[in-house]
Order: sequence, then C-alpha cells, then structure tokens
Amino acid sequence: MKTKTTFFCTECGNETAKWSGKCPACGAWNTLVESEKARGGSSVRPAAVHRPKPQRLDEVDTLEEARFTTGISEFDRVLGGGAVRGSMVLIGGAPGIGKSTLLMQMCGKLNGEKIMYVSGEESQRQLKMRAQRLGVNGGELYILPETRLGEILDCADELKPDVMIVDSVQTLYNSDISSAPGSVSQVRECTMSIMQMSKSSGITTFVVGHINKDGAIAGPKVLEHMVDCVLYFEGERTLSHRILRAAKNRFGSTNEIGVFEMLDNGLREVENPSEMLLSGRPVNIPGTCVACVMEGSRPILAEIQALVTPSTYSSPRRNSNGIDYNRSYLLMAVIEKRGGLSVSNCDMYLNVIGGLELDEPAADLATVLAIASSHLDRPVGSDVAAVGEIGLTGEIRAVNSLEQRLKEVARLGFKRCVVPAHIRGELRAPDGLELMPVRSVREAIASVLY
Ligand code: TYD
Ligand code: MG
Repeated sequence: MKTKTTFFCTECGNETAKWSGKCPACGAWNTLVESEKARGGSSVRPAAVHRPKPQRLDEVDTLEEARFTTGISEFDRVLGGGAVRGSMVLIGGAPGIGKSTLLMQMCGKLNGEKIMYVSGEESQRQLKMRAQRLGVNGGELYILPETRLGEILDCADELKPDVMIVDSVQTLYNSDISSAPGSVSQVRECTMSIMQMSKSSGITTFVVGHINKDGAIAGPKVLEHMVDCVLYFEGERTLSHRILRAAKNRFGSTNEIGVFEMLDNGLREVENPSEMLLSGRPVNIPGTCVACVMEGSRPILAEIQALVTPSTYSSPRRNSNGIDYNRSYLLMAVIEKRGGLSVSNCDMYLNVIGGLELDEPAADLATVLAIASSHLDRPVGSDVAAVGEIGLTGEIRAVNSLEQRLKEVARLGFKRCVVPAHIRGELRAPDGLELMPVRSVREAIASVLY
C-alpha cells in the first residue's frame, strides 16, 4: 500500500504536509515529527458513523455523569468520586512503581463489570500469577496479551466489555504505521483509535503510560490533551508508600491525592497518611519541623528537613526536594533580611520526607523554622508543628482551613502549634493543643528556637 507522509507537531498536534523547524501553528521549535498514513484513509478506524446534532441548552439534562466506584477509595478520591463511564484515564509512572498492581487490584474489586485487561508486557500466565498473588479471582475478567491494535479493537468489539485496561500504551502497535511501538506517531494513533472506540461504545478505559526521564508520560504532548484524566503514580522505589496524583481531570479537582503502601500482597490504602509520613521522625534534632498542608480536602502533616552549612563555594549550593526551588530562595532571603540570621553564605538543602510535593504557602513557616533550626543548631521541639504563609516583609499571613489543619495536628499528638497571629474570625484550638500566635518571622524564630 502506498503511504503518504505528513508531519504533526508533538506540542499542539497540528498537521502539515511539509516539514519545518518551527511549527506553523503554535510556533514551537523542533516539534514536528513524521506520521505515516495509508493513502486514501486515516489509519484511525472510523467509529460508527453518527452525525452530531446540536441540542438546546435547556433540553440538556443536568444529571451528573454516571460514575462507578473502582472499589479502591483512594483511587476514587483522585478520580473525583469514582470513575466516569465512558471516560479515558491515563496512568503514568516509573517502571515498578505499581501501576499494573493497582489496576489488577481494581479488577478484583469491580463487581458486576465485564473487564478486558490487555497487556503488552506480560503473558497470560504472568497475569494469572499476579492476580493470584493479589487475591483477585475474576469472574468477568478477561485477559488478552496482545500488542496489535487491530486485534485489540476487534476483541473489544466482540467481547463488549464495560471496562478496558491497556497496559501499556507504549507497547501498542498499529501496522499501518511503519514506526516502532512507543514512537510518537504510534502512541498518538493507537491512543486515538482506542479513544474513538471507547467513546463510541461507552467503554471506560484505563491506559498505562510509561514516563520518560523528565517524569512526563513518554509520547506526544497531545496524549494528555486527548484523554479525560491524567494520573501520576509516584513514590520512591526503595520506600513502600506511593502517591497517586491527578495532573488533569475533566470530571473533578486535581488537588486530591491518594496514598498507598506497597506490601507483599499488593497495595494497601492509607486513609490517614500523616502517621505514615511522620513515622521515624528524629526527636530533638536540629533541622526539622512539621507542617500541615491541605491536599485537596484532606489535611496532611509532613516533615520538612533542612541542612544549612557554611559554604565553601563562591556561590552557595542550594537544593530543594518537595518544595518549589524559587520559593525556597525567597524564604532564604526573608530569613536573611527579616529574620536576622545570616544565611546568604550558606549551602542549603531542603527535603520533604515521603516524596510529598508541598506547593502550598502554608508550609512556609515550617520551612523557615527548619532552616533556622539547622542554622542555629537548636531543635524545634518534637511536639511543635507550624502553619502559616510568609510575606516578603517577614509577616506571617493567615491560611485557609486553619481549624481543619489544627484538628489534624492535635490528632497526631502535637502539643503546640505555631500559627499566624492575625486570623479572620475566631479560632478555637482543639483540646490539648496550645496555640503559639506569631506576627513575624523574627517572632516565630524567637519563640520556637530560643
Ligand atoms: P508493578 O505493578 O508491576 O509496576 P508497574 O506496572 O508500575 O511497572 O509493580 C511491580 C513492583 O511491585 C515490583 O517491584 C514488585 C512489587 N510488588 C509488591 O511489592 N507486592 C505485590 O503484591 C506486587 C504484585 C508487586
Ligand atoms: Mg506494569
């Protein structure tokens, strides 16, 4: 068959007939790649032809999308309260993090759904062994070790599953395209075909995607635009806990995280992550402080560690893990100028224990206290937590959901909590928790570390 070569942009998906260094649509450089299609028709299988019909707004029913539970509540939470029927969910993560395990466990808990599990990575026996290990005995679970797209679509047509799992998108192969599985054009075309099929027949699809060394899902950027939800499964391979996070969700917020622990018999849901994140915390050692951040609707305590040492370099080394790099620079400057500590010639290393990403300013105060504690070599008491945003003049600013955070702090057995002095309305401290209201960075350092 003759093939016609076109090019498309991996940033915006625009197609052109001619290659150029710059995408004519979005202006990105070096993003055009080849896509080969059989002449006379798209390689994307035509879905059952149905002509769209505009509908009057007031005739549209406002019933919520039909959702079903995955049987794993941490997974449901990240999806925004269960999976939406007919939607397509992409799950990215490093090899060995537990993507296949999570989906296989879901298969065991989906009652009354017909599931087709397509694996391009494992044989039937391997899948069976994994299922047995996880205690999954699927009634309506069908497994299909296959990588050829056409066969997969035919099988889905025949089996008519309610849920389909594709593990992974990088193994899929469309024979109309000459490039290798995992290449940008293969991933794009295969995802598009699966998407069309699942939309037209209402199959809920979970697709596994490997990530590249930058941590993004390997393949074209348009992949993330196409699907309804993009989730990332993260964690240190050497540690047992895993965090499921939404990067995109058409049917819910992207703030919620799901926390799991990898055990010998699969993933265990962690309903109260604070305990796990604080376990093994050093006691009365300088350079650590506990913050309380909101991950979606849930308050979570996280330990922030800092190491500050005089620098032997002409420009000090700074490294931060789990806290925005620029934010940590800003906080260092505030400590120098408003906190009265001379840290500008110091190397600084920051780390949030447990692989959590703290992108909330409410963690500022604990970060500053951890840095100051390391610099002064004085411990923050192990019964002290801190919540507050820091402004450029060194003032401590109010944060939202303070009461909810304090409850979590008290629940975990902390006796004192540093809080902003200015708060809207009245604040009642939970029983057994003493509040330490502070107005400025200087005051916070003085009241906690001296
Ligand atoms: P897996 O789900 O295969 O990862 P992915 O699909 O993301 O590549 O998980 C593999 C790892 O999980 C592997 O190192 C073994 C470990 N594991 C357990 O610790 N317990 C279990 O019950 C299972 C199934 C896997
Ligand atoms: Mg896998």
